[in-house]
Amino acid sequence: MKRSFIREILESIDSDTISFAGGLPDEKLFPLEGLRKASEKVFENPQNLQYSISNGIPSLREKIAGFYNKEGFETKASNILITTGSQQGLFIIAKYFQDKQIIVEEPSYLGAVNVFRMNGLKMQSVPLAYDGIEDQQFEDGYSNTKLAYLIPDFQNPKGSLYSSEKRREVAKSVLKHGGYLIEDAPYSELYIRRCQASAA
Ligand SMILES: Cc1ncc(COP(=O)(O)O)c(C=O)c1O
Repeated sequence: MKRSFIREILESIDSDTISFAGGLPDEKLFPLEGLRKASEKVFENPQNLQYSISNGIPSLREKIAGFYNKEGFETKASNILITTGSQQGLFIIAKYFQDKQIIVEEPSYLGAVNVFRMNGLKMQSVPLAYDGIEDQQFEDGYSNTKLAYLIPDFQNPKGSLYSSEKRREVAKSVLKHGGYLIEDAPYSELYIRRCQASAA
């Protein structure tokens, strides 16, 4: 197995580096006080350090399902699986779709590309503009693969944000062909927060 590029990127960073490659957040923005209070709360109850079922703590899964319901996706706690970061989640998905063809944006996120490659997925890339993926090429490719991996909000590495129109076109293709869409959305919540903050 080849060494991951992400490992190399992160190993080459020291305290003087402002890394755009590794995408390190500004430490001044870490909500230290909130995290300190949350940690103290965790240690008030010894049960929090106990083993739990491997799908994740039921109350957390319930809470996450509630979040998706609020967004308009009917979701039960049993639909949620807690993983150790996104890399484990992507690995489980890639294992499930092993050796299949998949549409990815060009360029795409290194961490996902690595696990797809490791699991024998055959990636077909479709060009990405700043308002989203080229939708006709997406439709042409997706009609065959019925599987795609997209990052619609502040894409990594390009930073692009899908327009409403592009989102509708992608959704239309997915519904038409009845396939799967793997949406990687680590930055969507930041955007919602930013909009709310500027509206206030
Ligand atoms: C598109 C995308 N997915 C996943 C991740 C990693 O997310 P996490 O830190 O939650 O594992 C990143 C971080 O760079 C990313 O840009």
